[in-house]
Amino acid sequence: MLSNQHSYEDCLSHSIKSEWTVDDCFQDRNFDFSKRFLPYRIAGVDGITCLNDDEKLKLNQILGNSYCHVFAFVEEYIIPLVMDQAREDVYGDETRLRYLLRFAHDETKHQDMLKRAMSQIDEGLGVECGVIPGREDVAEVVLGKSKLAGLLLTSLIEWFTHLHYVEHVRAYDDLDPLFQDILKYHWIDEAQHAKADSLMILETIKDMSEADRLKAIDELLELGGAIDGLLAHQMELDLEALEKVITRTLSADEKAEIRTHQQRSYRWTFLVSGLEHLKFVEVIEEVAKGGNEKIVATALALAA
Ligand SMILES: [Fe+2]
Ligand SMILES: [Fe+2]
Repeated sequence: MLSNQHSYEDCLSHSIKSEWTVDDCFQDRNFDFSKRFLPYRIAGVDGITCLNDDEKLKLNQILGNSYCHVFAFVEEYIIPLVMDQAREDVYGDETRLRYLLRFAHDETKHQDMLKRAMSQIDEGLGVECGVIPGREDVAEVVLGKSKLAGLLLTSLIEWFTHLHYVEHVRAYDDLDPLFQDILKYHWIDEAQHAKADSLMILETIKDMSEADRLKAIDELLELGGAIDGLLAHQMELDLEALEKVITRTLSADEKAEIRTHQQRSYRWTFLVSGLEHLKFVEVIEEVAKGGNEKIVATALALAA
């Protein structure tokens, strides 16, 4: 039962104890462009045959930039979503209010951190890597769905942030240390956010019918489809940046091969790794019986 696992008091106390600033994370460092930024599971470049090792390294670094952007981009809606949740009970549970205000503040801090990383990566690569526009439009689409759908998407994102760092980044000693720290500092806050998401989800489903809960899961999957479209757009911008960085034009066949690899890794990174996360599966089980069948079917289709 999710209700027995977390409390706002626990989130608040961990958040206060682990407080950090963007300067704490960067410590005046720059990236080491002789190193990979992302591990294989996230970057997915190792199997590409049309690029040499140096070109794969550059693509990995371009993808590091895109990774930061996609996070900053999809997290844009979380700030108003959490502020709305805080405002719903301003004169009630003070601990809840204090933690949710910190939660919203954390996300603005993450945006600062991710934007600073992107500007240093652009400078180091010597090109301005293209990134998908329209973050306010995406926020409007997410906030236009039911509150439960927005909270479920947030939970999905925070659990995959957790998984990326703990299972795929922390273990490597050959990745760029600053990039590793960016994911580490992000994870420190997201570990508490994920617990608070479960609490807000429990509050939200209390008075909802089973049919409305299942509808919110459908809305979540629609949002997943929209994210998949954004990732496909980002993939094209990554190819343009790669051509500029490696100063050669890629043939149609080469681009097709790179797209095949990138689509698989982007989908795994930003959708499947969250849909399959055991903690997220637990959240969906609590929301609606039968919800996980929809989630598993979508995850399998995306991973195919
Ligand atoms: Fe975040
Ligand atoms: Fe978060």
